Amino acid sequence: MSSRLELADLHCHLMPYVDDGAYDEEECLELLKQETEQGVRSICLTPHLRADMFESSDEEVALHFAMAQRLAEEAALPLRLYCSREYHFDRIFRSRLAKGELSPLGEGKTLLVEFGGRHSGEEIMDAVAQVTRAGWKPLIAHVERYLPLHQDWAFAHELREAGAGLQVNAGSVLGREGLRQKLLTRRLLQNDLVDVIASDAHDLRIRRPEMELCARHIEKKYGRGLARRLLCDNPLAILQGSKE
Ligand SMILES: [Fe+2]
Repeated sequence: MSSRLELADLHCHLMPYVDDGAYDEEECLELLKQETEQGVRSICLTPHLRADMFESSDEEVALHFAMAQRLAEEAALPLRLYCSREYHFDRIFRSRLAKGELSPLGEGKTLLVEFGGRHSGEEIMDAVAQVTRAGWKPLIAHVERYLPLHQDWAFAHELREAGAGLQVNAGSVLGREGLRQKLLTRRLLQNDLVDVIASDAHDLRIRRPEMELCARHIEKKYGRGLARRLLCDNPLAILQGSKE
């Protein structure tokens, strides 16, 4: 890469003690350092909110976000940190949606929404409609995981036409999440159906941040323009609230 891109990572689990992400403050700090070393300058921490699995309250998340900010400041990391959630589309999310009690990605109206293995294409489309009707823009997390897209990748067109943004994981681009996800991710990239690539990093062992490696891969295969759009410009515009 000629000059280094300033990357933005809007989906990750670097905040400790709130979900299955970073184990403690030490791992959180090391993950923040690794992202910084990879050229990431803006990070949105997105702890899971999922019924019966990850139910940390907004207060707990705010408390641990302050801790992560303090760690980054004390280590003088050149990072802008944001705090949001990865919302599983379930009863908690629907109740929050009805009450408007949601934390967008950064300063705009975009929500990071994930689905389960049992959600059908029809249900996902219905969810997108519910979210957009309520005045939010859904960004579908790791869209390469979902069965309806494996059955017909062109379903991605329908989702985008319905107002959803599509996020894929850096790990899927690099083939860390299996061949099927790698092939689907490639198909989506080739057809310009991806809006954002993010790390979805959880830890230092298995699901590490690989933003720079992914940016290099995208640049090599598809050109610098696409690398810049998917790993810098689009995620930054979402975080700054200028892309809705
Ligand atoms: Fe995630």
